[in-house]
Amino acid sequence: MIIECPADTRLQEYLLKNDIHILTPCGGRGNCAKCKVRILKGEVKINTMDQIWFSQKELDEGYRLGCQVFAKEPLTIEIYEK
Ligand code: FES
Repeated sequence: MIIECPADTRLQEYLLKNDIHILTPCGGRGNCAKCKVRILKGEVKINTMDQIWFSQKELDEGYRLGCQVFAKEPLTIEIYEK
């Protein structure tokens, strides 16, 4: 499913508020990568946890840990609902 996440928003909070659920078995600590999402439009910084879980190719393709995403600008994101 594709969603639009507004600026200045933590993705996980936005999803919860809208009753959209992704897998977060580690509770958003960056330890499981089950929360994988793909950023289709907009910039999201790559953090250390993203670098551990994703290859450079995946990072280039926009994959990030959903639990770590903070939208500084409006984002278009593909999410994988549980
Ligand atoms: S919820 Fe486990 S890494 Fe994001």
